[in-house]
Amino acid sequence: MVTKLHHILETQQFKEDALLQELFALTDEMPLFDIIKLKNRGPTPEEAERCKQLRLPQEPRKLILGNLFYEPSTRTMMSFSSAMMSLEGNAINLFDVERFSSAAKGENIEDTARVAGDYADAIVIRHKEEGAAKKAARHSSVPIINAGDGTGQHPTQTLLDLYTIRQKLGRIDDLKVGMLGDLLNGRTVHSLTYLLAHREGIKLYFISPPELAMRPDIIQYLSEKGIPFEQVVGEELRDVARNLDVLYVTRVQKERFLKPDGSPDEKAYEAVKGSYVVDGSVIDVMGLNSIVMHPLPRVDEIDREIDSDPRAVYFVQSRNGKYVRMALLKMILDGE
Ligand code: NCD
Repeated sequence: MVTKLHHILETQQFKEDALLQELFALTDEMPLFDIIKLKNRGPTPEEAERCKQLRLPQEPRKLILGNLFYEPSTRTMMSFSSAMMSLEGNAINLFDVERFSSAAKGENIEDTARVAGDYADAIVIRHKEEGAAKKAARHSSVPIINAGDGTGQHPTQTLLDLYTIRQKLGRIDDLKVGMLGDLLNGRTVHSLTYLLAHREGIKLYFISPPELAMRPDIIQYLSEKGIPFEQVVGEELRDVARNLDVLYVTRVQKERFLKPDGSPDEKAYEAVKGSYVVDGSVIDVMGLNSIVMHPLPRVDEIDREIDSDPRAVYFVQSRNGKYVRMALLKMILDGE
């Protein structure tokens, strides 16, 4: 049917014009067997016949998700891949992109995203720079999903957080939500604040060491919108926790503590690390209809002794992450 090739090692192997022409003719036919064309209308009888001759699948190919992770991830990348595979699609996972992709050769995010769109039907990006996903979206022919852009946002995390709140408390309005920890650098709490600000009857409590207080631009956003919030600094955690519906805990974002030359600032991190811990004494004062959340990974800010308390829902969040991402992928790739 087609000429059998074995190793491809040097161009002289293609010195026969007939072989080169055969390769190019076959290449011309390949886009036909790629998505959309076959997907949107099914093959014509001639195309189906040709597929048969070439022993190519007559079914439209599976949708492909491209995961481009410039920063570490466990849950987000695995749940996106798992979500895509559960929808009978495929995933291409590139992690440590900074080191192992063309970024290491100096390629910028715009070019990488543009190229990735030729190989994937949607792209998930996690990047250390705030605004990176938006930059990529401006240059991408396929949908971009922000899986965390530096200290900016992490929108899909917020959607799974809100889904979990709804599942556990039965509502996403009329809530007293305390956010605890690194509110300056934590992108999950930034995204969560922006979305909660659009719900009814929300009161927010920002509980942090002074060095890690909520970002000024977000404080300003809340003030302009007239959303009630309190900045709790130096108060006993238990005194705030007893009135909350949701205590959302975050880890101190160690990787964001940098000296002006870009090297890790261990001293600044050590100074705030361990400054708050949610343990039995905290959950004991919380209401029976309240929950403790955490996007994970945790370091030492939640004592493992409370893991078995039904109000500790962080592992429920990570499980829900897959299903919320399945729903999002369905809407992105199959919405009308
Ligand atoms: C979060 C992140 O990457 O922002 N992790 C996650 O996606 N669940 C939280 C964190 O790293 O602290």
